[in-house]
Amino acid sequence: MCGIFGYVNFLVDKSRGEIIDNLIEGLQRLEYRGYDSAGLAVDGKLIKDGDEEIMNNIIVKTPGKVKVLKQKVIDDKINRTDIFDNHAGIAHTRWATHGQPKEENCHPHRSDSTKGEFIVVHNGIITNFSALRKYLLSKGHIFESETDTECIAKLFKHFYDLNLKAGVSPDLNELTKQVLHELEGSYGLLVKSYHYPGEVCGTRKGSPLLVGVKTDKKLKVDFVDVEFENNAAQQQQQQANGHSSLLNNHSTSLDSGFIPVAPGEQNLRTSQSRAFLSEDDLPMPVEFFLSSDPASVIQHTKKVLFLEDDDIAHIYDGELHIHRASTKSAGESTVRPIQTLEMELNEIMKGPYKHFMQKEIFEQPDSTFNTMRGRIDFENSIVTLGGLKAFLPTIRRCRRIIMIACGTSYHSCLATRSIFEELTEIPVSVELASDFLDRRSPVFRDDTCVFVSQSGETADSILALQYCLERGALTVGIVNSVGSSMSRQTHCGVHINAGPEIGVASTKAYTSQYIALVMFALSLSNDSISKTKRHEEIIKGLQKIPEQIKKVLNLETKIKKLCNDDLNDQKSLLLLGRGYQFATALEGALKIKEISYMHSEGVLAGELKHGVLALVDDKLPIIAFATRDSLFPKTMSAIEQVTARDGRPIVICNEGDAIISNDKVHLTLEVPQTVDCLQGLLNVIPVQLISYWLAVNRGIDVDFPRNLAKSVTVE
Ligand code: UD1
Ligand code: M6R
Repeated sequence: MCGIFGYVNFLVDKSRGEIIDNLIEGLQRLEYRGYDSAGLAVDGKLIKDGDEEIMNNIIVKTPGKVKVLKQKVIDDKINRTDIFDNHAGIAHTRWATHGQPKEENCHPHRSDSTKGEFIVVHNGIITNFSALRKYLLSKGHIFESETDTECIAKLFKHFYDLNLKAGVSPDLNELTKQVLHELEGSYGLLVKSYHYPGEVCGTRKGSPLLVGVKTDKKLKVDFVDVEFENNAAQQQQQQANGHSSLLNNHSTSLDSGFIPVAPGEQNLRTSQSRAFLSEDDLPMPVEFFLSSDPASVIQHTKKVLFLEDDDIAHIYDGELHIHRASTKSAGESTVRPIQTLEMELNEIMKGPYKHFMQKEIFEQPDSTFNTMRGRIDFENSIVTLGGLKAFLPTIRRCRRIIMIACGTSYHSCLATRSIFEELTEIPVSVELASDFLDRRSPVFRDDTCVFVSQSGETADSILALQYCLERGALTVGIVNSVGSSMSRQTHCGVHINAGPEIGVASTKAYTSQYIALVMFALSLSNDSISKTKRHEEIIKGLQKIPEQIKKVLNLETKIKKLCNDDLNDQKSLLLLGRGYQFATALEGALKIKEISYMHSEGVLAGELKHGVLALVDDKLPIIAFATRDSLFPKTMSAIEQVTARDGRPIVICNEGDAIISNDKVHLTLEVPQTVDCLQGLLNVIPVQLISYWLAVNRGIDVDFPRNLAKSVTVE
């Protein structure tokens, strides 16, 4: 995901070269999170601007890896020798969400192309950016990128100019508050400006940001006071901006209705930031490292302060001040502790998890939420997929839908095919990309071909895409990586927004693809009155999924024990499912063989008696999916066929469901119940965890299983 890094030195001489090296090194520490472009901003030289002297900026940014950025800094022949005893530099790695990974979309973004008065790096998503952009365009701002972030930089300038017009020169912190008031969505962001040399403001809402502190001397206190505004000033500010935000006003009235930063408050710099003063209360040499991730700070300092949502960290004159962007609520903490990080770098990168795969499994409450964010209006049961809207009428008229993918992505197609057909009443076929190509399957102009891929770079799927494009079919991508080949080459599509997946085993991408496909089917049938009830039921179900996944993840201890005690020495494992759960069985089997190297097979429960039953005895471990849906009685009969042959299945069932007399079932793993077509989202989690713990027990390098690559770019 995107990463932020900032570096401020005060009374510590640093050359521009050293500052840039620091920023680049910080970004390198963020690389493991996944990204597609990188950039940085540092001070340039003093130049004449009318009567004034201003410090111009140097912004270097590029798609590609941090090493490409490093090379660009060399190619641009940036002077490395100028010395700064106080300087603020900011940098960013970007994982594209708004717009392709190309230079103009990389961060940092600036408020204007002439002087670059305000420069911003940002993580997260500004959900009201379209409206803000429209407003700012109407005010004459010229946009250089497709990003949501750029409107933040523009807002800084907009408010700065309005304050000046009103005769007030605002403090950077006060200006930040005015800007934040306009933003909806999530952010971690840093801003610098030549109007505030050597200063930076960092703030967050729903996206992490921390400040590392490095001093030679011991800090006086190990906390920073939170600076709340006095009530009068706060009220005035709220009246000014709180009750009349740009967009509520929706007009030019901002300029007339705007109340600047309270005059009494401007440049009022009370030194409450005691921690950063020396014994004689004078500022001391200090370096600050701002980052979205402790991994990039730990090599400089172990002293860090984690910002909370709505905190604004204002760094100037060697001090760190924490202000609040929201009003003080009762019981709110009035200090932020400066903590000592005891973790090792490796631990930080994976958080509390041992492997990326485990981290990604546990990220699913968030990743599934992010797939739906801004796309489902839960109150009115409406799904809007921006990337498909214009194409829906064409897709509704198509003769058939062909879903094409490989591996786990293929399973997400299988898992949703039935609800697709039910809601759209269009025949859907699901194809493995390689087999589809081998058969040179006929494709026509009135077909819609849906390509599902985490990486968007899988060779077989890309070749199949080209094949369909050549035959004039409409192509739709369901892709995680923005800017990937598939995302670019399809006519339209949906980014699943699951965030980067690093572990070779696909986990969170599966659940997000599944949801994206369900949302696709829902939007295709939005206007079908006969489907209204079913729609509402599914949308209600989707709303609960993130919380329900959290519940399923609580099974980890039980699963760990199961893998340790019962499955570890086994050579083979069967997974039984039917209907919606056949895909879950296939996906579980793939996960298990891919990560733990144990042979496993997903079997359609209805096929048991046609051959597979011969394998069943009291030794072969079997996992059966027996959650409640219309096929439940049939699944139960398959379980009975197994137990009648002394099999002792592990049954994944709904909470509180007495499946079968306990002595016949080895163990039950109970998951919450949801709508039939969504149940696979919950049922797959225990098998993801089983595959993970089997692999860990066997000492396998979970994130890099042998013979496999994350992105399969060869045929
Ligand atoms: C877009 C923004 C999103 C923002 C939202 C707000 C991007 C990448 N996404 O999301 O950050 O919150 O607007 O209005 O800018 N596409 C393909 N093939 C694919 C996937 C996508 O052609 O495989 C196309 C879509 O048709 C669309 C564009 O890429 O034109 C962006 O897709 P997506 O991110 O899903 O669109 P939104 O959800 O509208
Ligand atoms: O990037 P894609 O989704 O196109 O990748 C397809 C498969 O290679 C992938 O899902 C693979 O099966 C996973 N490693 C399974 O965990």
